[in-house]
Amino acid sequence: MPTSSTRNPFTAEESPAVGVTFEDLSKSFGRHVVLKNITLHIEPGEIFVLMGPSGSGKSVLLKHIVGLEAPSGGRVTVGSQDAADETTRETVRMAMVFQAGALFNSLTVYDNLALYLREHRLGGEGKIREKVMHALQILSLANAAGKFPSELSGGMRKRVAIARALVMEPQLLLYDEPTSELDPVMSATISEIIASLKDEYHVTSIVVSHDRDLALSIADRIGILMGGELIALAPPAELKHSSDPRVRDFLNPKIDLHHPRFKQLET
Ligand SMILES: Nc1ncnc2c1ncn2[C@@H]1O[C@H](COP(=O)(O)OP(=O)(O)OP(=O)(O)O)[C@@H](O)[C@H]1O
Ligand SMILES: [Mg+2]
Repeated sequence: MPTSSTRNPFTAEESPAVGVTFEDLSKSFGRHVVLKNITLHIEPGEIFVLMGPSGSGKSVLLKHIVGLEAPSGGRVTVGSQDAADETTRETVRMAMVFQAGALFNSLTVYDNLALYLREHRLGGEGKIREKVMHALQILSLANAAGKFPSELSGGMRKRVAIARALVMEPQLLLYDEPTSELDPVMSATISEIIASLKDEYHVTSIVVSHDRDLALSIADRIGILMGGELIALAPPAELKHSSDPRVRDFLNPKIDLHHPRFKQLET
């Protein structure tokens, strides 16, 4: 479990977690229906893991939360505000951990994290240093502060991406496949980190992942998206006993999730 030797420079009071609500959300690209009438409420402070076959619309769903996609029908609300409104992104601190990290290669790890704080003038260099080093320590990256992204392993880059999201003091943290391409040990570490952030920062976490171990170990609830619909929505312990064969297959470690039978049905 990651531990922190320094005082947490962020405070939960400054950063109350926000919930996310999908009300009858539909999304089509031309005639291609990707999401059909999704209704779901994610609680403030919850760890919600969204699973589903490749192409089932998981990333599209995440993009609605940060306003990168607009609904074809229905509504997405962050806190009490419409996710499609630009003001929502100005008033709610949301951070997204992209699959590939999306780090600036010409900047050191330290400067990648400090950039956001400097741009938004969130403190002098002393305060910025405190926040950056605290986030790096949580992710066991303090020794990598002076390195460039090209000098890091894939797992380290992924942790830097999480650390960078943390210094933004998010109320809502979105992860798109945080453990893909990582070995099982690193995947377990990342899962523990995501879980520990819930206690440390009281952040709402929405995690898109194919990683069954991650989902079953850290999720408060798991949603499974298939054929444009949420075919399951339950805490891990309940989902394991689902009578729906699609859910059982999906959670069965012996089954290849990339098999064509799990492909999104084009409509
Ligand atoms: N901007 C877009 N224009 C047209 N079609 C799109 C667009 N974005 C996504 N799609 C389509 O929507 C469907 C869902 O895409 P999405 O990226 O959400 O899948 P996913 O569940 O995240 O898959 P993966 O697990 O492979 O990342 C796909 O068929 C994709 O081609
Ligand atoms: Mg995706």
